[in-house]
Amino acid sequence: MFDSQPIKDFRDATISADAYRIIVELVYEHSRIKLGNDKQTLLSNRLGKRLRHLGLNSYDEYGVLLRSHGASEELEHLVDLISTNHTRFYREPDHFTFLTSRILPPLIPQLAEVGEPLRVWSAASSSGEEPYTLAIVLAEYLRIHPSIKWQIEASDISNKMIDQARRGIYRMDVVEPVPQVLLERYFQKGVGEQHGNCRVREELRQKVRYDRVNLFQPEYPVARKQHVIFCRNVMIYFDIPSRELAVKKLSQYLAPGGYLIVGHSESLMGIKHGLESVRQGVYRKP
Ligand SMILES: C[S@@+](CC[C@H](N)C(=O)[O-])C[C@H]1O[C@@H](n2cnc3c(N)ncnc32)[C@H](O)[C@@H]1O
Repeated sequence: MFDSQPIKDFRDATISADAYRIIVELVYEHSRIKLGNDKQTLLSNRLGKRLRHLGLNSYDEYGVLLRSHGASEELEHLVDLISTNHTRFYREPDHFTFLTSRILPPLIPQLAEVGEPLRVWSAASSSGEEPYTLAIVLAEYLRIHPSIKWQIEASDISNKMIDQARRGIYRMDVVEPVPQVLLERYFQKGVGEQHGNCRVREELRQKVRYDRVNLFQPEYPVARKQHVIFCRNVMIYFDIPSRELAVKKLSQYLAPGGYLIVGHSESLMGIKHGLESVRQGVYRKP
């Protein structure tokens, strides 16, 4: 069956100043993602399909919907549509090298002595490539320390990303950065309808616990005393006060001596924080 109504195409429709202001304000309130004044085209490209799906005639109607009572689910859709989830396995590999060459060698004997597990958190984990890279790196490193227990927390504001990450299914070209020997060790090749895909093996998936976390929610459902928090390539979307707040909140979840790692292009310069700067993108709680 086909709809007899003419097809509405919002791609070229301009967003009124009012609707744009409402969207910018609500996105900021919900996620602290700061949309600049030049993102109308990006918004109309990404939102047209959503408006059609909702049967709305204009962005003004969408603004009214967003402002209405009980629109929090729609707000989630909106943030999903406008946020950038780009990620990849072994992204910014220096950080993983730093983890195995500088963080883990002194930390692991300390944890072994007191019988404490290693806790690592990927705090804007998108579709899972970052936490699974961490899981591979830790599993490999800890092969010679089998008594050490470890757990990775992974979280994102987007439920869609969390679901995708939990499934742990990736196209073969996506896992290209994973060295062949590790691909064989930690992934299963898809067959039949999964041909061309592969899946993170169950044993490794179990090491990563996913949860939806907005970095600006009051409390995080994550254990305190994390030894390392990766929060990479998300600060860039926040304004300075929001970065400051996020770093302050994340620091409260770090163990003394724990590390916060942000993206290469996201120095914490210009914001107040109580962490020591160790090297580009790496900070340590005193
Ligand atoms: C570009 S991805 C970064 C993924 C990964 N950390 C990396 O570096 O490859 C940014 C992620 O931040 C998430 N995000 C945006 N605002 C957020 C917020 N307020 N709280 C938690 N996650 C957020 C987005 O949903 C997106 O998946």
